[in-house]
Amino acid sequence: MATLLRIDSSPLGENSISRRLTNEFVEQWKQLHPEGEVITRDLNTLDLRPIDAEWIGASYTPESARTARQKEVLSLSDKLVDELERADEYVLGVPMHNFFVPSTLKLWIDQVARAGKTFAYTAAGPNGLLKGKKATFIIASAGDYSPNTPRASMNFIEPYLRSVFGFIGVTDTAFVTAGGASAVSSGKTDRETFLKPHVESIRSVLKAA
Ligand SMILES: Cc1cc2nc3c(=O)[nH]c(=O)nc-3n(C[C@H](O)[C@H](O)[C@H](O)COP(=O)(O)O)c2cc1C
Repeated sequence: MATLLRIDSSPLGENSISRRLTNEFVEQWKQLHPEGEVITRDLNTLDLRPIDAEWIGASYTPESARTARQKEVLSLSDKLVDELERADEYVLGVPMHNFFVPSTLKLWIDQVARAGKTFAYTAAGPNGLLKGKKATFIIASAGDYSPNTPRASMNFIEPYLRSVFGFIGVTDTAFVTAGGASAVSSGKTDRETFLKPHVESIRSVLKAA
């Protein structure tokens, strides 16, 4: 049975562009996988905290040697890594916040980049352990950061996500970029007209899979 992990990070609920598009992805995915399971994670409802010395110490302590306290410290991380391992495919809604991913998404990444779980140090360097997975990132931003546009050099999100997911083994990635969303908030374009090409891109991503 195919399993999809959906991760949303926009705090804007119903008004969110990225959530509207991850929703679209899930609906289209379900049509292709009627028996499939969808795991849903809303990062705004999780108690995500910055990793600290205790967390780092626990994660680098061999599993068999961990104290009860260290196991407790890692319990959320274990749960989130388990979701990544269980799913075959991921879709992430990523609103641009101050030229980067939202802080909740960065905190989630810090919880799932785990030595011995999602990557391993080898003689040849770090090796990603999540194999055979595919990730689709749906990025929404007010401005347009497409290649060959004046703001292209400020597109830190796409290379970052490609790098960090590649680091944990997820190299099969697709990006749906809903840039220029300020046209909706300023009333220049209506929401559905803005969303239409991105809904089509999602169709193409799923068709290509
Ligand atoms: C706190 C905050 C910071 C933002 N920073 C940027 C930014 O750096 N560049 C940009 O183009 N848009 C920025 N925006 C606009 C959002 O990227 C845009 O509204 C997008 O639709 C957010 O996705 P969402 O609708 O799924 O929440 C920001 C919005 C918020 C609320």
